[in-house]
Amino acid sequence: MQKLIIPGGIPLHGEIAISGAKNAALPVLCAALLTQDSLKINNVPVLQDITTMLSLLKQMGTSITGHNASEIILSAAELTNLVAPYEMVKTMRAAILVLGPLLARAGEANISLPGGCAIGLRPVDQHIKGLQAMGAEISIKHGYIHAVAKKLHGARIVFDIVTVTGTENLMMAATLADGTTILENAAREPEIVDLANCLNAMGAKVHGAGSDIITIEGVPSLHGAEHTVMPDRIETGTFLVAATATGGEIHLKDTDSHLLDAVLDKLTEAGAHIDSGENWIHLKMHSKPKSVNLRTAPYPAFPTDMQAQFMSLNCIANGTAIITETIFENRLMHVQELKRMNANIKVEGNAAIVYGISHLDGAHVMATDLRASASLVIAGLIAQGETVIDRIYHLDRGYENIESKLSVLGAQIRRAR
Ligand code: EPU
Repeated sequence: MQKLIIPGGIPLHGEIAISGAKNAALPVLCAALLTQDSLKINNVPVLQDITTMLSLLKQMGTSITGHNASEIILSAAELTNLVAPYEMVKTMRAAILVLGPLLARAGEANISLPGGCAIGLRPVDQHIKGLQAMGAEISIKHGYIHAVAKKLHGARIVFDIVTVTGTENLMMAATLADGTTILENAAREPEIVDLANCLNAMGAKVHGAGSDIITIEGVPSLHGAEHTVMPDRIETGTFLVAATATGGEIHLKDTDSHLLDAVLDKLTEAGAHIDSGENWIHLKMHSKPKSVNLRTAPYPAFPTDMQAQFMSLNCIANGTAIITETIFENRLMHVQELKRMNANIKVEGNAAIVYGISHLDGAHVMATDLRASASLVIAGLIAQGETVIDRIYHLDRGYENIESKLSVLGAQIRRAR
């Protein structure tokens, strides 16, 4: 199994470009199932989750071509297979995003139930409830969600809980439904706006994305389009935290500071100096960070996908921080690993109390999920001595070329088998 080896203690300096957003690209790829025509997607990051999604779409009959890895043309002229098998859904929960498009276009879908995952139970009851309200008949058989609907119809759906992929799934399904669908208590994440822009370019009538009420007027069919995926706000935030924690100075291109206000506020509170322009962010940090409290919540509040990275920053900050995770019930697994590096953290329920110490010690640690892996990389970069991170396949699911980007910024990092 591959591992990363990081001799710590080097401040990050330099300039890198940010990739397209994983969590925007995944639903946009699935939108290709909604039309017989070709969908050209630019700025698709080269990641394991994207490869998994492309092979799932291929199995369903989608042809995939591209001039280069980040520019892909998908054509689902005919859907030949309406099944998302367990082997794929278990490695990538976002496979559930094919449910809405398949049902809307082909009238049927058979998707393996995702089941639990490392960061929490993550049920899909809201996806199912919404599709049922739109007229789908859904049964769970042999671990699969079997959904059938001759023609979906518009409905008013109030989510019990704010769900990102739930909102995306129903938004896609509603584009081809008879009549108007209103999604209330919808997720407001920028990735939802990106998907709505893509769907509208395909001829859909989606209004209000980015607010908690989204209205979708169904149309008889969608057509081909070209879409450029938004920058990855979590990759952006991860590099900014790494630069802050190591006391460096970095310039990030091809990103958008407006996507991460809550994160930039916390970095400023920690002592970083941040400048930004239309598509760049510059961060300078020349002091020891101050501890920052944070509480994760749906957008525009502080993102759960940045919680672990800030935990590493707080480990070596001046003061004590309380980090509260409200989205997922088991997303503090990195605490145990950070403790192996001498961090002083106490967990109470869904909160971690992080007592800042002078430095972390390099150690052998294990990545448990994608963002936990990122937190361990940051911890490795600031630690005294060498850190070895096992199970880095998690990292490859969501960060494009992380080692080469960190190397450009001066980090000593290498991969070993
Ligand atoms: N939930 C339910 N029922 C549902 C759906 C969700 O109870 O039907 C619960 C979940 O268990 C969780 C909460 O609602 O406690 C929020 O989950 P959500 O559905 O919003 O998460 P998701 O759509 O499965 C996306 C991202 C995650 C990110 C979360 C929260 C994608 C592909 N994934 O997941 O990204 O953490 O939203 O912002 O967009 C990551 O990139 O590392 C990652 C995990």
